[in-house]
Amino acid sequence: MVDYLKIPQHIAIIMDGNGRWAKSKGLPRTVGHTNGAKALQRVVEACKKFGVKILTVYAFSTENWSRPKEEVDFLMDLFAKYLKNQSKKLAENKIRFRVLGDKSRFSKDIQESMIKLENETKDFDEFYLNVAMNYGGRSEILKATKEIASEVSSGKLDINSIDEKVFENHIYTFGQPSPDLIIRTSGEQRLSGFLLWQCSYSELYFPKIHFPDFDEEQIKLAIEEYSKRDRRYGKV
Ligand code: IPE
Ligand code: IPE
Ligand code: MG
Repeated sequence: MVDYLKIPQHIAIIMDGNGRWAKSKGLPRTVGHTNGAKALQRVVEACKKFGVKILTVYAFSTENWSRPKEEVDFLMDLFAKYLKNQSKKLAENKIRFRVLGDKSRFSKDIQESMIKLENETKDFDEFYLNVAMNYGGRSEILKATKEIASEVSSGKLDINSIDEKVFENHIYTFGQPSPDLIIRTSGEQRLSGFLLWQCSYSELYFPKIHFPDFDEEQIKLAIEEYSKRDRRYGKV
């Protein structure tokens, strides 16, 4: 990568626009999702190549269950296939895999594949891939709150020692730094519940392009844009 660029350590992407991409080509939305999965592969490779350390992608929100049953079923099939295919690719590239979200709502088969991939890749530290599935930022905050409250009520934790560090041990991204850059494709300028705790100081970038068209060049443009930003963290 070009030396003058600042490389974000953690990039997070809301992979949006699969449906619109398909519609613009007169194709069913499902084709958009299949091509979105292909784009994800390219994006992982590009981020790794550019020296990004962590990539978090939003694949399915807690709200996405309310889509038509046929679309949800298609996405579940796609996730099942994706998770089964990843084993070799992640091992070859020494990528550590983690699911962000509540796994319990998925089929037994999908849950098993998720846990298998997390276990198989647990010793890799070259690159981290987090896939947010059945993820919602508010549910994540509530999960952490309940866990912390239960530690306080059982006497394990003193209420006055609750701080950001303690809280971060109870969210799905525990042990990882917050994203430096959050990208949402397709031009929509909202977070739709993505990483609500972690986005506190993230730079936001909203390219117009739909996710199935995302590739190495788009990642490069995003990093160039990030490089121009002046991150001040409240200082002058
Ligand atoms: C993102 O693309 C994929 C998922 C939410 C699963 P969309 O399916 O939201 O595509 P648009 O936004 O309708 O174009
Ligand atoms: C957010 O996209 C979730 C994912 C990309 C997985 P949506 O397309 O579901 O979000 P809204 O409904 O436009 O806010
Ligand atoms: Mg969408």
